[in-house]
Amino acid sequence: MRISVIGCGYLGAVHAACMAALGHQVVGIDVDPDKVDALNAATPSIFEPGLGDALAAELEAGRLRFSTDYADAAEARVHFIAVGTPQRRGEGAADLTYVHAAVEALVPHLRPGAVVVGKSTVPVGTAQLLAERIHADQPDASLVWNPEFLREGVAVADTLHPDRIVYGIPAGDEGDRARAVLDEVYADALASGTPQVVTDYATAELVKVAANAFLATKISFINAMSEVADAVGADVTHLADAIGHDPRIGRKFLNAGVGFGGGCLPKDIRAFRARAEELGIGDTLGFLREVDAINLRQRDRVVDAIAGALSVNDGDRYFGSDSSTGSLVGRRIAVLGLAFKPESDDIRDSPALDVAVRLKGLGADVVCADPKAIPNARAKHPQLAYASTAEALAGAEAVVLLTEWREYRDLDPAAVAAVASGRIVVDGRNVLDPDAWRAAGWTYRGLGRP
Ligand code: UGA
Repeated sequence: MRISVIGCGYLGAVHAACMAALGHQVVGIDVDPDKVDALNAATPSIFEPGLGDALAAELEAGRLRFSTDYADAAEARVHFIAVGTPQRRGEGAADLTYVHAAVEALVPHLRPGAVVVGKSTVPVGTAQLLAERIHADQPDASLVWNPEFLREGVAVADTLHPDRIVYGIPAGDEGDRARAVLDEVYADALASGTPQVVTDYATAELVKVAANAFLATKISFINAMSEVADAVGADVTHLADAIGHDPRIGRKFLNAGVGFGGGCLPKDIRAFRARAEELGIGDTLGFLREVDAINLRQRDRVVDAIAGALSVNDGDRYFGSDSSTGSLVGRRIAVLGLAFKPESDDIRDSPALDVAVRLKGLGADVVCADPKAIPNARAKHPQLAYASTAEALAGAEAVVLLTEWREYRDLDPAAVAAVASGRIVVDGRNVLDPDAWRAAGWTYRGLGRP
């Protein structure tokens, strides 16, 4: 199948490479010439495991290329729309500028029988408007809404082996024809038994935001439990294990810590709420405001935990300003992790980076490490100091783990004690073994862990 992928950011670049890996002939279109050049050289600007290799293999095989010219999409039968839908500045709602621009630019190149496939995360109701726009110029083209569920860090595997395939299709013959075309694109996954749900546009659009809202709610639920656990001296990790054994609940996404970030969950719950307000059912999704608030409060809790531990250790050095955060001034803190999750260099709405910035703002002498995200973090926050893990730990009065990269989970408390100047570790992801760190002389603080 000849395929175009419009928008070659995270989603589009991975999707284009994976569609080519399935044997399709793919052209990726992006308005950014630098991005297109980098992708044509198999050197994507994002770090995503396996993406560089997949690009190199498919470019070499001649199944994949990238272009800035929409005319290069004209030969394709299927056009995936994979542009971003960021949060509108100062608002919760999604900014659909790129989606509309992509469809406007594509429409003149659509041939009869073409299928436009929406992958971007959009407010419910968008697909119907786009379908009308497409039909106005090319009545024999169709739109399918096909939400994407890939996770950063495992995006290539998620795209090649999705856990479900969802289509929102128009009614009648048009829908049946469009579905048959897309079934050809996903023939491998469908043949291997991947569950498929075929529904209407609105439901398909809602599936995506509902899934992310549910995941965000699950994380904030366990983070709320971690606050309760702290209040009573209970252990939220044991609590999560115990309730997670109930298959109706499940253990995944019950890891309490500094909270969720990234380019999807935070903006999607805000856009979902904003859409509900527009639909006159704002109260229905009012709970997502609380989900967001709990999530952001976790960042305060981590900062408070560091400040609290430092002020306790201070003895008479701490003269008690209004808040214990006064104890942070001039204190040397090693921040381990900046990316919003491990195996990613993405710092969009990263809780880790936010905590680092707050610590710096409160006067701490912060030195930040991350295996992959330093270039992105430095570009956004040049005021922070960046270093290798060893340099960050050397002379640190407190160590704070904020992204659970394997190398941080595996730190040897005795080895860190040999180079740090203090013995305070704040585990913002609840992944360290408190007993091992305490045995090595550390004051250990997690979130909702005694
Ligand atoms: C999320 C969804 O998981 C994907 O299904 C979806 O396709 C994607 O958004 C999207 O809309 O494009 P992603 O943003 O890559 O994927 O990251 P997640 O793995 O969902 O993690 C999100 C955040 O939650 C991270 O900051 C992570 O550290 C945090 N998290 C996750 C927790 O704090 N606790 C947990 O138990 C799990």
